[in-house]
Amino acid sequence: MKVGSIVRGKVVSIKPYGVFIKLDGDKLGLLHISEISNKYIKNIYNHFYLNQLISVKIISYDKESDHISLSLKQISKIEKEEIIKKLNDFTKLNENINFWINDYYKGDKNMTLDLNYVKNLPNFKDYEDRVRKINQMINNKTGEGNDFLGWTTWPKDYDKKEVERIIKKAQYIRDNYEVLVVCGIGGSYLGARAAIEALNGLKNQDKIEIIYMGQTFSSDYLYQQIEYLKNKKFAINVISKSGTTTETSVSFRILKELLESKVGKEEARKAIIATTDKEKGALKTLSNNEGYETYVLPDDIGGRYSVLTAVGLFPMAVAGIDIKKVLQGAYDAMVKFDNDDIYTNDCYKYAVCRYHQYLNNKSVELFVSYEPQLVELNEWLKQLFGESEGKDDKGLLPDSAHFSTDLHSLGQFIQEGSKVLFETVLFVKNSKHEILIPNDDENLDGLNYLTGKTLSYINEKAFLGTLEAHSKTGGVDNIVLYLDKMDEYNLGFLFYFFMRACAMSAYLLGINPFNQPGVEIYKKNMFHLLGKPGY
Ligand code: PA5
Repeated sequence: MKVGSIVRGKVVSIKPYGVFIKLDGDKLGLLHISEISNKYIKNIYNHFYLNQLISVKIISYDKESDHISLSLKQISKIEKEEIIKKLNDFTKLNENINFWINDYYKGDKNMTLDLNYVKNLPNFKDYEDRVRKINQMINNKTGEGNDFLGWTTWPKDYDKKEVERIIKKAQYIRDNYEVLVVCGIGGSYLGARAAIEALNGLKNQDKIEIIYMGQTFSSDYLYQQIEYLKNKKFAINVISKSGTTTETSVSFRILKELLESKVGKEEARKAIIATTDKEKGALKTLSNNEGYETYVLPDDIGGRYSVLTAVGLFPMAVAGIDIKKVLQGAYDAMVKFDNDDIYTNDCYKYAVCRYHQYLNNKSVELFVSYEPQLVELNEWLKQLFGESEGKDDKGLLPDSAHFSTDLHSLGQFIQEGSKVLFETVLFVKNSKHEILIPNDDENLDGLNYLTGKTLSYINEKAFLGTLEAHSKTGGVDNIVLYLDKMDEYNLGFLFYFFMRACAMSAYLLGINPFNQPGVEIYKKNMFHLLGKPGY
């Protein structure tokens, strides 16, 4: 037992104060909680599990009592690099020395889950078994709604030929039109809009503009869009899996008539692209009759899980987004999160945490971002979780807030109002553009203390200050997801992360995540009032 040497051992017991590790020769060493990390370890059970293989440094050995003290944090960066080099890929993945490997790689990770601002943490051990079983259920497609699990492997199974067709047609639309109208509702438009705004921003100078119809009956909204389109060269992507959604069909009928009267039937045909079911539905029949280019929304993928299919990909490609990078990010997330180890799988950890909040009488999950261009991403999240989980009188209400904007409205409620919510904050660490605060000789606004600082720096301090205020002072738990930067790859990764987390979370609740029976009721009433035959 040479003090200073690095040895490998197996975790045999986890206590609140430390971890017992069995070393060579059956000797037992103690990794005290204070020797794990320079960071505060709130819940030791978050980081270790029984039989975990781990590399540790011997920092003291008392021959007489046979006491061996171990450390993780005293392993130097160079020593860590040496150890990682020696492990083959299989060992890295399967014999998990994840704690400090994760710690070490933290800077390079595209997404990090931070639970340090969550007081009401679950004991992950209690969920080991259920998470393992549900993960199996998802992979083996044995749970409720199992015929809608196509999205789980879509990043590898997607139709490669269709993606090439999408890229080609999108380029044609970019080269020949000024505006693309995305005509759809719910899962048939939210993902595309979320992606386009998150990646391109709200005032981009791209040569083609994307606008949205089909999600409302508002006369005033539609009137303005139509008036605007009268003077534009526009194309239409009509998206509907069922092909019968009334909001979408009504908008499309109006748009089609406008386009045909403007450019004639032949030219309109080239400018209309339909994304719908492979074989059935009114939109499919119409597209066949008219000869529109069509893309498929696969049978086994529901609307709110369809952002990585043509539903999201075609509008994204027209907006100039590299959709192969989006798919690559989703693919990597698929590989990473198809793993039932609750201690290392951030996706399932997040799902368990939000479920635990629900069990502890929280009713609302507030999705928070610090970027106005992520407003629509939060709308996508609200649909994903709300429509997946809000059934059988169960589920968290997903809501959203945008800081700093809403710190000057909802902020008061979050800080001091009734304790009904927790926050899930998505913080993007690196901005694409930097703006420096200029100096002002007169300093009448008193802002010279910020001279030379970037807006990102200030935004981050606002975020950190708010995190502390809401969680520590206000007693509102904050789950934080750090995204290294907002790019195609990371967004694809994020989409997949949330879809998988939603499936896990809904199954934990005992809910079928893939149906939406409640949505039909308003439709029936509306059809009755409109005098639709049969209602
Ligand atoms: O998630 C869902 O399934 C829904 O939100 C649908 O996407 C939405 O109702 C639109 O349906 P459709 O694509 O059939 O027009």
